[in-house]
Amino acid sequence: MAKVTGLDGIVAADTDISLVDGTQGHLVYRGFWAKDLAVQYEYEEVAYLLCNGVLPDQAQNQQFTKNLTESRQLPEALKRLLDIIPREMPIMGVLQTAIAMLSGGIFIWPPTKEQAIRITAILPTIIAYRYRMQNGLSVIEPKPELGHTANFLYMLTGELPKPAHVKALGAYLILGMEHGMNASTFASRVVLSTQSDMASAISAAIGAMKGPLHGGAPTEVIAMLDAIGSKEHAEPWIRESLERGDRLMGFGHRIYKTKDPRAEALREVTEALSGNDPWFDLAVHVEKTAVRLLAEYKPGRHLYANVEFFAASIMRAIALPTELFTPTFTAARVVGWSAHLLEQAEVNRIFRPQSVYTGPMPG
Ligand code: ACO
Repeated sequence: MAKVTGLDGIVAADTDISLVDGTQGHLVYRGFWAKDLAVQYEYEEVAYLLCNGVLPDQAQNQQFTKNLTESRQLPEALKRLLDIIPREMPIMGVLQTAIAMLSGGIFIWPPTKEQAIRITAILPTIIAYRYRMQNGLSVIEPKPELGHTANFLYMLTGELPKPAHVKALGAYLILGMEHGMNASTFASRVVLSTQSDMASAISAAIGAMKGPLHGGAPTEVIAMLDAIGSKEHAEPWIRESLERGDRLMGFGHRIYKTKDPRAEALREVTEALSGNDPWFDLAVHVEKTAVRLLAEYKPGRHLYANVEFFAASIMRAIALPTELFTPTFTAARVVGWSAHLLEQAEVNRIFRPQSVYTGPMPG
């Protein structure tokens, strides 16, 4: 008999937060198409929507943005921790440890919107602090006049980012915020269901996120774009690759039987920005060429760009080092985790599935 694994098809909760429909290619956040939100709204507005259920009006948006801005600073004790964690620990492990350290203080059961704002605000600061420290660079303090996305890039580089880069990264962060009952979201809800605190639940989610089967970096796409190098090399490179029977990285998807809505939205953003940056230009050109050649070499398979292709393209265009891909995905997904934890607390019952004993009985 087949072993029971993976909870495939099991419904673990009702949720008002998002709908993921792989057959239709739909991703809905609280009644809005995620792709529209990514193109038309800012990180702060969509974060507010996911945690509160409605888009903010102007006053609510200003207040929410102010709350996020005022919550970015690291406590001194946390800085000391970040300074002593061994240099070889990858940033995801550092993030997991640092967030767990917030437990206590305001982080007690039940989860609150204030806690959600604090964790969402502080996470990029932790990433930037640790990244610069690890690379022997001076730490850059948050800049209060910058929005969440621009400030993240500023703290990493020490330079005011280009508006086109902020727009592209912002769209990626919005599309990465939420994706139903994925492994890290489920992990966070399980921890919270014991009436543990939000910091512990998010620390557990980060532990789940860092595994290569979940938040793994789209490094293969970067390798492909690096190897192609220029628009004129795209067609011969892709043809040669498909002739050899290789798979094109960043194309095809198991769940989405049609176009991946996240990739569609990111393509729109990338297309709008091409001309601003040679990497956006190259990504748009490679995607068009690859889809055309995949239809020629793999007719009837309906192979399109997946979210990894444009996520990698955007992160490459804005020169984010590969080691920051999964932490950046985490800075996006923390919003979805927070919304799920607030929802879990409203209907809380401890998660306690069963197992089927398949071992021997005592003689
Ligand atoms: N390049 C070339 N051919 C492909 C590709 C691709 N990227 N993806 C699928 N195919 C072909 C397969 O060779 C196969 O052809 P065949 O019928 O002649 O044998 C056919 O399309 C169906 O392929 P499957 O492996 O059955 O498709 P499946 O749904 O199982 O795979 C997967 C999905 C793993 C994502 C696949 O498309 C792939 O390997 N893509 C490249 C890797 C990638 O981009 N991964 C990131 C996915 S997005 C995410 O995880 C968030």
